[in-house]
Amino acid sequence: MEVETPVSTDEDESGVSTPVGTRRSFFARVTAAISAVIGLSLTIPIVGYVIFPAFQRKKQEWVPIAKIDDLPVEQPKALDYTVTEKDGWLETKATKGIWAIKHADNEVTVFSPICPHLGCGYKWDGQDRLFKCPCHGSVYNLKGIVQAGPAPRPLDTLPVKVENGELLVIYKEFKSGLADQTEI
Ligand code: FES
Repeated sequence: MEVETPVSTDEDESGVSTPVGTRRSFFARVTAAISAVIGLSLTIPIVGYVIFPAFQRKKQEWVPIAKIDDLPVEQPKALDYTVTEKDGWLETKATKGIWAIKHADNEVTVFSPICPHLGCGYKWDGQDRLFKCPCHGSVYNLKGIVQAGPAPRPLDTLPVKVENGELLVIYKEFKSGLADQTEI
């Protein structure tokens, strides 16, 4: 003998009855689909905003910082390196101090201004002809070689080139406290 399963129904305002389970699951699916579409449409631009600027931030460029003829020979000169930094849609100008040394053969060495020990700024002592870091006493000669103190490596050099009598530099930063020069 066949047993009939009772179907639960619901009545809307117009008095039309529909099976409750069917109608609820239909609305649940529609709601989930709409939520998914809205979620995706919000997520894609946000991910793009977060991810792509992160790559753009790494973009490094040559910046002219001095006329080569204005640099004294074998005498460190503190120079300003101004760069436009892009963080997403935000553009800011940042100025970093760097040390440039023109050698007798017109080659130029440029040092990062950050002490490789733990990241302090160091100064040139013209009398002793040494770079000295006030934080923990690291001392470097004109070639950036460690003469004293806890610094684990020489001063970090930056890429340089000379074009039309101008010195161009790419500014980089490196991890402190390591024996090797590792770019951040
Ligand atoms: Fe320069 Fe420590 S940060 S010696």
